[in-house]
Amino acid sequence: MILIVDFGSQFNQLIARRVRENRIYCQIAPPAITIQDIQKLNPEGIILSGGPSSIYEKNSPKVDEKIFDLNIPILGICYGMQFMIHTLGGDVKRAEKREYGFAELQIKKSEGLFTSVDSKTSCWMSHGDSIKTIPKGFSITASTENTPIAAVENEKKRFFGLQFHPEVHHTPKGKKMLQNFLVDICKCKQTWTMKNFARNAISEIQETVGDKKVILGLSGGVDSSVTALLLHQAIGNNLTCIFVDNGLLRKNEAEKLKKTFGQHLKINIRFVNAGGKFLKALSKVADPEKKRKIIGKIFMDVFESEAKKIQDAEYLAQGTLYPDIIESQSAFGGPTSVIKSHHNVGGLPEKMKLKLVEPLKFLFKDEVRLLGKALRLEDEMIWRQPFPGPGLAIRIIGEITPKRLSILKEVDAALLEEIKAAGYYRKLWQSFAVLLPLKSVGIMGDQRTYENIVAIRAVTSKDAMTADWAKLPHKLLGKISNRIINEVQGVNRVVYDISSKPPSTIEWE
Ligand code: XMP
Repeated sequence: MILIVDFGSQFNQLIARRVRENRIYCQIAPPAITIQDIQKLNPEGIILSGGPSSIYEKNSPKVDEKIFDLNIPILGICYGMQFMIHTLGGDVKRAEKREYGFAELQIKKSEGLFTSVDSKTSCWMSHGDSIKTIPKGFSITASTENTPIAAVENEKKRFFGLQFHPEVHHTPKGKKMLQNFLVDICKCKQTWTMKNFARNAISEIQETVGDKKVILGLSGGVDSSVTALLLHQAIGNNLTCIFVDNGLLRKNEAEKLKKTFGQHLKINIRFVNAGGKFLKALSKVADPEKKRKIIGKIFMDVFESEAKKIQDAEYLAQGTLYPDIIESQSAFGGPTSVIKSHHNVGGLPEKMKLKLVEPLKFLFKDEVRLLGKALRLEDEMIWRQPFPGPGLAIRIIGEITPKRLSILKEVDAALLEEIKAAGYYRKLWQSFAVLLPLKSVGIMGDQRTYENIVAIRAVTSKDAMTADWAKLPHKLLGKISNRIINEVQGVNRVVYDISSKPPSTIEWE
C-alpha cells in the first residue's frame, strides 16, 4: 500500500485516484499520523501531498521527520516537496513570481520518475514558494523557465520531489511519472482488484463482528446495496436490513427492491410500510426545509422502533464512502467518522448504543460500482442514479397531496423509461421530473384545459458539487413531452430546466 500524507491540497483525492488506477491500494492520512501508525500500515511508499501553506508559516503542517529514516521511497509534491527539502537541510523561499498554470518542463535525467517521459513535456504549476538550494545527496532532475528546481531526487535514499502536480490532467505525462514511482521505485504489486477487496472486506467483517447481529438501513441506492451484499456474504442471516418505504419513492421502486433483495439474493429484510405516516405529517407543509426535517424525524422514529425489535443487535452497518471520511479527516484511527447527515441514520448509533461497520469507507463511488459488479449485483442496481432521502417530496413544489404524488410518479416513470430507451440513463448523473405549483391553459381535442406544469431536470456531474444541464436531443425531449402530456392526466405542459449548478442546485427544493 501507499500512504498519502494530506497537507491540504485540493488535489488529494486525485492523487489517491491515480494510485488506485494503477491497482495499488492507498490511504490518505493527516500529517498528525504517528510514526508508529505509519509503521503499522507498512507502506511501500509515501506521497507527501501539496497544500496551501508556506513552509515558513508558523503553523504550517508537518509530519514526523522520522519518515525520512524509514528507508521507504518518498515522493513530495509541491508543498510536500518543499517540506522534504526544508526538513533535510535545503532552502525554500518565496518565489519572485507566483507560478500558476502550464509550464514547459525540461527534463535533465530520463530515469527514475522520468523513465519513458519525453525530455520536453508540459506540467501544471501552482505555487508561491520555490526551492532555492537542495540538501546534500540531492540532484536537480528537471526545470522550467520560472522554476529552475522543478524536480529533484536523492537516488540513494529514493526521495523524489516535484514542484508541479503530476496528478492533474494538465500534466499529460503525470500518470506515467506516478506509475514510475509506484511500480519501478516502490516496487508495488499491481494486485488491488475489487475481487481482492471483497475477499478482504468479508474476512475483516467476520473478524470484527464475529457472531453478533448487524442492522443495516437499506435505501436501494448503490452504496447501501453493496454494503448489504458484503455483509450478507460475511455473516449471512446475522444481518438484518431495514427498508423504510416512506411513500415518496419512484413508481414500483419498493417492489423492485423487495424482489432483488428478498427473493433473489435471499437477504434478511424487514420492510416497513410507513407511507401513510409520512404523508400525514407532510400534509399542508410547503416549506422545503420543514419537509426535510419532518421526513428525517419520522424516518429516525420508524427505523429505531423497527431496529429495537431485532434482539441483541450490536452493530449498525452504513455505506459511508471515502470522500465523506476524507472531509472529516478521521479515517485514520480518529473518532467515529462525521457523516453527511442526509446519507445516513445520523445519531442512531449513539442513541441505540450500536457500533459502526463501514466496509466501504475507503472507496470512491465508481469503485463501489466496480465492487457491486464483482459481487454480481445486477446492473440495474449498480447504475442507479442517486436519489435523495426525502424523495419525491422535494420534487413536488409546494404542498404534497396523494393526487399530486401520484401525478409525479407517473410523469417520472414515463420520463425514465424514455431516458433509458434512448441510452441516456447511465450518461446522466440524475434525470427526474418536478411538479410545479402552477397551472397553465392548454387545449386538448377541442377542449380548453387548465392543468399542471412539470419540469424535466437532467444533469451531468462527477460528484453533485457542480452540475451541467444535459444537452438532451430535441427529438428525445419532444418524445418525453408528448408521452407525459398524452399519458398522464392532470398535466398539459412540460418545460426543460436549462440551469447549471452553481448558481442553481440540482433539486428544485
Ligand atoms: P443539490 O440539489 O443540492 O443536490 O444540488 C446535490 C445532490 O444531493 C441530493 N440531495 C439530497 N440527498 N437528502 C439526500 O439524501 C437531501 O435532502 C438532498 N437534497 C439534495 C441531490 O439529489 C443531488 O444528488
